[in-house]
Amino acid sequence: MGRERWKSRTVFLFAAIGSAVGLGNVWRFPYMTYKFGGGAFLIPYLIALFVIGIPLLMLEFALGQKFQRGAVDSFRKIHHKLGGIGVLAVLSGFIIVLYYAVIMAWTLIYMLNSFSSELPWVGNADGYFHTTVLGLTDSVSSIGGINIPLLIALFVIWVAIYFIVRKGVDSVGKVVMISMPLPLILMLVLFIRGIFLPGAFEGIIAYLQPDLSALMDPDIWIAAVAQIFFTLSIGFGIMTAYASFNSKNQNVRGDTYITAISDAAMSLFAGFVVFAILGYMATTEGVAVADVATSGPGLAFVVFPEALSLLPSAWFFSLLFFLALFALGIDSAFSIVEAVNTTIGDRYKKPNRPKIAFFTCLISFLLGIIFVTGAGLYFLDIVDYFINNYGLVTAGLLEAVVIGWYFGPKKIRLFVNKQCGCNIRGWWDYAIKYVIPIALIILLGYQFYTDITTPYGGYPQWALAIGWVSFLIPLIIAIVFSLKGKREDVVQSKKRL
Ligand code: PHE
Repeated sequence: MGRERWKSRTVFLFAAIGSAVGLGNVWRFPYMTYKFGGGAFLIPYLIALFVIGIPLLMLEFALGQKFQRGAVDSFRKIHHKLGGIGVLAVLSGFIIVLYYAVIMAWTLIYMLNSFSSELPWVGNADGYFHTTVLGLTDSVSSIGGINIPLLIALFVIWVAIYFIVRKGVDSVGKVVMISMPLPLILMLVLFIRGIFLPGAFEGIIAYLQPDLSALMDPDIWIAAVAQIFFTLSIGFGIMTAYASFNSKNQNVRGDTYITAISDAAMSLFAGFVVFAILGYMATTEGVAVADVATSGPGLAFVVFPEALSLLPSAWFFSLLFFLALFALGIDSAFSIVEAVNTTIGDRYKKPNRPKIAFFTCLISFLLGIIFVTGAGLYFLDIVDYFINNYGLVTAGLLEAVVIGWYFGPKKIRLFVNKQCGCNIRGWWDYAIKYVIPIALIILLGYQFYTDITTPYGGYPQWALAIGWVSFLIPLIIAIVFSLKGKREDVVQSKKRL
């Protein structure tokens, strides 16, 4: 029995781009650009893209394709004690999907509520999100109850994800053909609507007006690297899992550039949509763009719904926006689940995909319940911060160090060169061996220093401990996994499920 395959290279690329293009492109990138020097931010962003993002993405693709295994087994094939690197990546991703699915659940609720002539959040978008939808408590210390409508929405999301990943790349391949292009089309409609609105131009100016002096601030460079990691879905083991279902001779270099550049283009484009509409809102309400610009849930679930509600046929544009958000997020969400399932499936000669999918989805749903409690948003914020700033970066760092210093970057590079009939030169080896490890160590060190000097978000210590634990548990499991790794485990398993 050979390994399953994507139906075509296009399907694989849609899946990879679908994973990369997600909420990060819409609610993170535009605001970061605006905040960190407008157009000037594109300089560190593009440098991070070409120096760190593209080499690492190529590494992750090449690993999966070369070893025909997900992240854990690819590293075990390099050395039987190295599987832990894959474990760290996949488990960090797994923690992310627990709350990413909750965000999908909010989106679902907004989508359903868009079908009404009088949008329920008109005039009170903030109260609607925090009180009506989330039932948010005053502080992280009061957990409150489980929010039943959200719980039901979360359940629906997990049922949907289950059906999407049920047959592995076979079923995923069908869904990505819609979920990848759909948000692009919807965002295009919003863009065309947006640019004709009064104030749109001022919004776009605020988004991109370059402030070159911002480049002197180290925060900007750190932010650019962190954004690149998140947006390209690097460090989750996803790209390795996805590429492991390609034939060995696919063009890795081409895949890498297509995925990375599509993702960056989508980010830039999303900024136009977001800021055109924020500019309109600022003009209509007679305030400055600075007063309405924000990122994260506040942008997508408070400011944007309010801005859209000012338009004629508000329900239609709200529906469009939340559908776009849903389609953007869902293929990122199930890409992580697929990375987990691939890892488990790799243990078996003939994996029972539906059974694996069932258990992953069930367990994820149950663990995700903490995020639909009254304090859910606080937990989400904390876990998101720690996993993104530590878990992923650590996984990426270890990947680069192992390939750079142990396996040898040249072997991977020659593998890639053979497929594309091209000649990637030694710069790639330097990127993997020196530039990426140094950049990521600085990033981690700086992050750690910031966190011990100023506790994140003003949360109490016990709550921040949850954040540390969400990074440390995968790390400890990864270390134990590596220590226990035996040479004989690496040969293809014969077990049946
Ligand atoms: N690349 C995704 C984004 O930009 C990030 C992501 C991918 C998050 C997969 C979780 C899972 O939104």
